Amino acid sequence: MIPFVNLTGQREKYRFELEKAEREVLDSGCYIGGHEVESLEKELSDYLGGATRTITCASGTDALTIALMAMDLRPGDEVIVPDFTFIAPAECVAFLGATPVFADINPETLQISPKSVKKEIGPHTKGIIAVNLFGQCAPFEELREIAREHHLWIIEDSAQAFGARTNQMACTFGDISITSFYPSKPLGCYGDGGALFTAREDLAKKIRMIANHGSAGRYQHKIAGMNSRLDALQAAVLRVKLRHLDEELAVRRQNAAKYDAFFAEYNRTAAAGEKIIPQKIVAGCKCTYAQYTVLAENREAFIQKLNDASVPYCIHYPSALQYQPCFARFHKEVLGGIVWTEADHPDPNSVKVSRMAISLPICAFTNVDEIIEKLK
Ligand SMILES: Cc1ncc(COP(=O)(O)O)c(C=O)c1O
Repeated sequence: MIPFVNLTGQREKYRFELEKAEREVLDSGCYIGGHEVESLEKELSDYLGGATRTITCASGTDALTIALMAMDLRPGDEVIVPDFTFIAPAECVAFLGATPVFADINPETLQISPKSVKKEIGPHTKGIIAVNLFGQCAPFEELREIAREHHLWIIEDSAQAFGARTNQMACTFGDISITSFYPSKPLGCYGDGGALFTAREDLAKKIRMIANHGSAGRYQHKIAGMNSRLDALQAAVLRVKLRHLDEELAVRRQNAAKYDAFFAEYNRTAAAGEKIIPQKIVAGCKCTYAQYTVLAENREAFIQKLNDASVPYCIHYPSALQYQPCFARFHKEVLGGIVWTEADHPDPNSVKVSRMAISLPICAFTNVDEIIEKLK
């Protein structure tokens, strides 16, 4: 069976380098912080052009939580988040007692819609979390304009897009930017891990304190923080993989071009209502293709085809976030005493897309030619 992300193929290729790095950490006696973590943070900053400070932590979800804490988010504050993405951005806002407000997406690029963000701004709005969904950069020029006009901050969720770029690198767009090193991410470790990035020295200091029990010096706790650390073993693995990231991203882009050509041909002969529409990547964006996501006009029929051909797939994501039961209390209509269901609402793009979206394997160790052959 073809794996959705071929992590064993990747390990096989870098085995010598990985085993050497892993052994050095295990033999060093230093498992938290120290040389590997400090070196990784420097190398990540250098990769991003040098002006950005990097603070590693225990996961992408922690990174978002810490970023919001660094922005002093309080109960009663509102943060605008995309309605179609992984749950973490909205979840972290709710976890801190604030209110996630869901903005619709562009149905072609699948990114947060600046027009919808504008509509959702109110007196309690403090900031925007923009997600570089599936590895493509969100529309930051327009978002920055809006943020400037309304005195909002921007947190860039680049969990799926470390290494993407437009006119600048992903992870340098936000007041604070974050990424995830979850194993299947374009830059992944062998457990959980994450990082925050900021060009602002004051925020970098505060973030480091929050991630380390609110402490600037041993047993001096200025603020209430948390324990969120990347361990040395993960840092060592990431340092090896970072050296190969650009080669891998180049292969992912070649794989995407193969799929694009295949689906263009596929759609020429597809019956009405059976087309497969790849996520539109805006000209000038170098996407990381965290996965290859398409909109299938008839998703059930396409799933049948994938199953028949033994091609793995994932559904990113099966529901618009505003309809997740954990967020029901945030519906304005619920607050007004009326329970608002998906069926009552004229479909936002996020809902339409959640019924059509499906992702295919694309990593640098996936044989996309074989998948295309199976689908012919
Ligand atoms: C867009 C987005 N944000 C945040 C996260 C959370 O990252 P982690 O799993 O490292 O907590 C993910 C993980 O899938 C993600 O896709």
